[in-house]
Amino acid sequence: MRIIAVTNIKGGVGKTTTAVNLAYLCASAGHATLLWDLDPQGAATYGLQGEAHEQASAKKLLSGKRELPELVLATGYPGLDLLPADFSYRNFAVHLAERRHPTERLLRMSRPLREIYHTLFLDCPSGISLLTENVLRAADCVIVPLVPSPLSVRVLTQLCDFLVREDWTDLTLLPFFSMVDRRRSLHEELMAGTRAQFPQILATHVPYWSEIERMTLRRAPLPAFAPHSEATRIYAALWAEIEQRMAAVRAAHADANADAAAGPWVRPEDTPAARL
Ligand SMILES: Nc1ncnc2c1ncn2[C@@H]1O[C@H](COP(=O)(O)OP(=O)(O)O)[C@@H](O)[C@H]1O
Ligand SMILES: [Mg+2]
Repeated sequence: MRIIAVTNIKGGVGKTTTAVNLAYLCASAGHATLLWDLDPQGAATYGLQGEAHEQASAKKLLSGKRELPELVLATGYPGLDLLPADFSYRNFAVHLAERRHPTERLLRMSRPLREIYHTLFLDCPSGISLLTENVLRAADCVIVPLVPSPLSVRVLTQLCDFLVREDWTDLTLLPFFSMVDRRRSLHEELMAGTRAQFPQILATHVPYWSEIERMTLRRAPLPAFAPHSEATRIYAALWAEIEQRMAAVRAAHADANADAAAGPWVRPEDTPAARL
C-alpha cells in the first residue's frame, strides 16, 4: 500500500479539495483507495457525504481499542472508501505525545489496511504538529498545494528544512500551485520565482475557479458530477503527473538498490539533500 498525504502548514489552500478529487481519480483507475480524513473539522468527510463514527476517537485508535478497518465507510463510488474524521482528532497530537515512539504511531495504525488497499490518502489539518510528523513519517509521497504568495515559499522552505533535519529525505515531496489567478501578474511572477528555487514543483497548476468551489455544495468529487469539465481535466492532469513522478522515484530507488548491491560507492546525487 502506498501512502499519499496532502498537507500544508497553511489552511484554505485546497488540501481537502485536492485529496477528495485525487482519491476519486485513483479509485476510478481501478485501485482500491481509502481516504482518511485527519482534520477534526471533517471537510473531506462532509464532501463525501460521510458521517463521523461514534467509536472512532483518537484515544481509542491509539490505544488499539479500535482498529482502522472497523471504521471504514463505503462512499458509494466504486473502489473509494472513507475513514471519517472525528472531533476528538483535535487532540490527536496530545494523545500521540503520551505514547512510546510517538512519531511512528500512524504508520503502525495503518498496517492492518495494507492488505486491503492499494493507496491510502491522508487529508491533513493545517499546521505542523506531532500529527504532521506522523504523517510525514508514514507517507511515501506528500502533495503540497501552494497558493502563490511570498508566504508559500517560506512554508515550503520550512518543510524541506524539517525533512532534512529529521533525515526523512526518501519522502517524495510534490508541491503544486493551487488557486492560481492568472489575471494577477503577481501570481505569475511568484510562480516563476518559486519554480526557479524549487524545480520539483509540478508543472500542472490548479486555477481559482468557482466551478471547483462548487464541490462543497454538491458534496461530491468534481470528476463525479462534472466528468467532462475543464476543471476535471486539470485534476486528471495533476494526478497523471503525480503518478509519473512516483513511478520515476520507484525506478530510481530500484536502480539505487541495484547499485548498492553492486558496490559500496555513493554517488553525489544520492546525498539526502539532493534527493529532496
Ligand atoms: N481551485 C480552487 N478554486 C476555487 N475555490 C477553491 C479551489 N480549491 C479550493 N477551493 C475552495 O476554497 C476553500 C478551501 O479549500 P480546502 O480544499 O478546504 O482547503 P484546505 O483543506 O487547505 O483548508 C473551500 O471552500 C474550497 O471549496
Ligand atoms: Mg482541509
